[in-house]
Amino acid sequence: MDTTAATSYPALTGDIETDVVVVGGGIAGLCTAWELTEAGQRVVLVEADRIAAGVTGYTTAKLSVLHTLIYARVRDSFGPEAARLYGESQQQAVERVAAVASRLDIDCELERVPAYTYSESPDGLDAIRDEVAAATEAGLAASLVTETGLPFPVAGAIRVENQAQFHPRKYLLALAEDLAARGGQIFERTRATGLDEGDPCTVTTEAGHTITARQVVIATHYPVFDRGLLFARMEPRRELVVAGPIPAELDPQGVFITTEHNTRSVRTAPYRDGQRLLIVTGEHFTPGTDGVVEHWEKLTAWAQDRFPGTPIEYRWATQDNTSADKVPFIGRFHPGTSRVYVATGFGGWGMSTGVLAGQLLAALITGTEPPWTRLYDPRRLNLAREAGSMLKLQAKVAGHFVGDRLRPSHVDSVDDIGPDAGAVVRIGGRHCAVYRDDAGGLHAVSARCTHLGCIVHFNDAETAWECPCHGSRFGIDGSVIQGPANTPLSQVDVARS
Ligand code: FES
Repeated sequence: MDTTAATSYPALTGDIETDVVVVGGGIAGLCTAWELTEAGQRVVLVEADRIAAGVTGYTTAKLSVLHTLIYARVRDSFGPEAARLYGESQQQAVERVAAVASRLDIDCELERVPAYTYSESPDGLDAIRDEVAAATEAGLAASLVTETGLPFPVAGAIRVENQAQFHPRKYLLALAEDLAARGGQIFERTRATGLDEGDPCTVTTEAGHTITARQVVIATHYPVFDRGLLFARMEPRRELVVAGPIPAELDPQGVFITTEHNTRSVRTAPYRDGQRLLIVTGEHFTPGTDGVVEHWEKLTAWAQDRFPGTPIEYRWATQDNTSADKVPFIGRFHPGTSRVYVATGFGGWGMSTGVLAGQLLAALITGTEPPWTRLYDPRRLNLAREAGSMLKLQAKVAGHFVGDRLRPSHVDSVDDIGPDAGAVVRIGGRHCAVYRDDAGGLHAVSARCTHLGCIVHFNDAETAWECPCHGSRFGIDGSVIQGPANTPLSQVDVARS
């Protein structure tokens, strides 16, 4: 976000008609729109805010097929052929970025690097060995190593060759320009608020305009129109990132991840003065959880312990959704539709999967079925695979839905809220989310999430209201930052309550 210009595509100001409307301008939506334009379709893309500036703008952008320990999991749940299709589909997506960047001459800092999942503890070695076996069986160039470029010892790691890292906004903004130059239309600050699945379909915007299209793609990270009830099959999580310059000679030259220490992920990127920007991710937590500041401190301490002397110049947070069976949902949205498509549940691996989603959805819409169509089909529902995770998830949601209502307020009165702090307060029998700014001004909104009614919690590190049920996020003025909620929290007049 800091090294690319802001975009300024216009908002939609009238009714229009097209072949396909794509809702959501992150990597999945932009790649879908671009692939459809390549295939000769007329495309309209609408984005509630700015393109490539939501989750995609804050990714750490590993373009890798090694998704922690996915191959053993997919092999065990879906069988070895599914693991092979997973690897094949993800690798060809990596190659798609390289090919498109080369063809369009996009300088997106694409660098070929190996990818590693490592364990510092010998206790994690069995899982690493199993992943090497599963990834090798899936057709990837995987090996077990004990030496990595990291400046600390590991007990073992799986290394997969020929992966990549890049600057996603440089890539995607160029894709958007190319799409627009070829007649595709992009509308920013255009929130889609209604979907009528007719023949044709109609998408309605917040401003009351309509887009009529034969087909609709919902690519809003967490789907805003959840016709497939995917909210019951996905879990949101937030993750923190810190970044700072390191001397180029200390570059570990790879992309790395471990499940230890509440997840740590490491990569570097080109930076000024011949240095590299070290990017460290980790400390995942459920949105709406207390203690985010402490998570930042832990992550910063880890980065500076493992890469001594690194000044932290950037920090940010990002959000992922993971499906119950860990395989993304890409394809027709629900059993009754051949017109509405979805891409979601990327589990933190949205770069290769977002590109893959664009290819897969464009293929389905134009009448072909890639071999990995069934693997990613959102309509799959295998209770043997998903029931455990779904039940746990729903128990957690039910706990929040009921428990947070019965819980006494965080504070008794708005007078107990200090400067730059927020809390849920009962005012006139109603749960209100109240934030006090540094000047003492109060900003109060309903604490009832506009998705399905759970009570939001305050994130003290990011000054935002977050819903612990499905991860919706709101600004202190109630505006939607992150779905599935699609309408703002209503304003509350504290003085009159
Ligand atoms: Fe579902 Fe809030 S995100 S109830």
